[in-house]
Amino acid sequence: MRITVTTGDPLTTATELLVLALWEEEPLASPLTDLIEPGDWSGKAKQTLLIYPRGALPARRALLIGLGKRSSPDLDQVREVAALATQRARELKVERFAFALPVVPDQTPETVAAAIAEGSLLGGYRFLEYKSDLKPEDRREVDELTLVAPVDAAEEAARGVARGGAVARGVNLARDLANLPPNDLTPARLAERARELAAAFDLPITVLGPAEMREQGFGGILAVGQGSVNEPRFIAIDYGVQYAGAPTICLVGKGMTFDSGGISIKPAENMDAMKMDMSGAAAVLGALHAIAEMQLPLHVVALIGAAENMPGGSAYRPGDILKTLSGKTIEVLNTDAEGRIVLADALAYAQRYNPSAIIDLATLTGAIGVALGPHAIGLFANDDALAQRLLRAGEAAGERAWQLPLWQPYREMVKSEIADVRNTAGRQGGAITAAAFLNAFVGDYPWVHLDIAGTAWTDAKPKAYQPKGATGVGVRLLLQALRDWTQG
Ligand code: BES
Ligand code: MN
Ligand code: ZN
Repeated sequence: MRITVTTGDPLTTATELLVLALWEEEPLASPLTDLIEPGDWSGKAKQTLLIYPRGALPARRALLIGLGKRSSPDLDQVREVAALATQRARELKVERFAFALPVVPDQTPETVAAAIAEGSLLGGYRFLEYKSDLKPEDRREVDELTLVAPVDAAEEAARGVARGGAVARGVNLARDLANLPPNDLTPARLAERARELAAAFDLPITVLGPAEMREQGFGGILAVGQGSVNEPRFIAIDYGVQYAGAPTICLVGKGMTFDSGGISIKPAENMDAMKMDMSGAAAVLGALHAIAEMQLPLHVVALIGAAENMPGGSAYRPGDILKTLSGKTIEVLNTDAEGRIVLADALAYAQRYNPSAIIDLATLTGAIGVALGPHAIGLFANDDALAQRLLRAGEAAGERAWQLPLWQPYREMVKSEIADVRNTAGRQGGAITAAAFLNAFVGDYPWVHLDIAGTAWTDAKPKAYQPKGATGVGVRLLLQALRDWTQG
């Protein structure tokens, strides 16, 4: 769907469908008052009312959608309304529709327009690649959303549309990758997708296979991947090398294309969900896509450890001791705690860039879902300023994160008697000890770990702009943080 901006009065706009997002406190404008029974409209959040003005307005149809109380305005409400409008437009089979830019207290036309672009593109998302039983009309998408803005807000609105569009395309790319089944998204295929992304924006990319990883000492990724016929890959994409003097930020993603648990195999129930165990990698690629589209003046490095964790005859085992890229050794106690092993190599590699910050995203532990449920990303950091930066960005972007501690006693828990660290410390504090393990591989660089295991997937449809399946979580938070970074 294309999103454009036009100027004028929405009520005099000729269109198949005019969407009016209205506050509870907002009195209806004059032609509408005559068309609607007063009791039928309240403006409550997400209330919808479709009317046929029959010549009273130039629009064929008008869709009123409630924004809720203006006294407690919320950008997320705008995203939801835009998502609902887009879904309704699709149901009505209109090719294009108009959306009147609402005035939201405390927000600029740019941020409101960005939220509308995000909401409509995220709400319009569907994963239909594997549906062979759909009629062409069921696949049809709406061609165009035209945002109708006052003349003095049009330029800002256009900027917001460009930004919100870039963000949403990034999120939807992450969703696509995470929704793909593991037979079609192997580590090699993930690397190909990364190559396509790099080629589209002319970015330098390095992809290492097993032979090169062996030469260079990626003992973690190799071990985790050795039980599968689908060989592991290490992926590094460079964005913004030309911005000399800009901070270097490494984004590191866990790219487990399938996590069976390996020899410490998982129970059968819900094992299929482990096709999304590359959601961290997906978020990194989605964010990079948007960063490149927005041309952010930063040096961003995307690093992905991609492997399939399988219990083949050559699989790594509990008891194995691995030598990682950093030289540090890992005692494997449970082959299902594989993400941290893959990240150990990727985090060590990140230090080659002498980065201002390392941010990793990983579906790392079931324990984070137990602790925080589906409404917050688990955040861990060795640097308070960086933690605050990301916590604030999450709040602003509508992807909240919550910080958990990394105190010394937790770090003690992952020490091994016979190697440097062990890959599990049992169930207690599982998300924290996983983070403490990662901490051993980041050196003194400012680092944040985002555990997205509880938020990367949903069976519920919690928001109108969030369909079932992969959420693309992390992309919006990262983009907000990086945009803030360009402003100092
Ligand atoms: N990929 C899983 C974590 C996960 C669980 C992601 C649920 C998404 C939803 C990870 O590799 C894993 O298996 N972690 C283990 C660690 C344990 C063996 C110490 C876990 O959380 O049970
Ligand atoms: Mn696992
Ligand atoms: Zn995993």
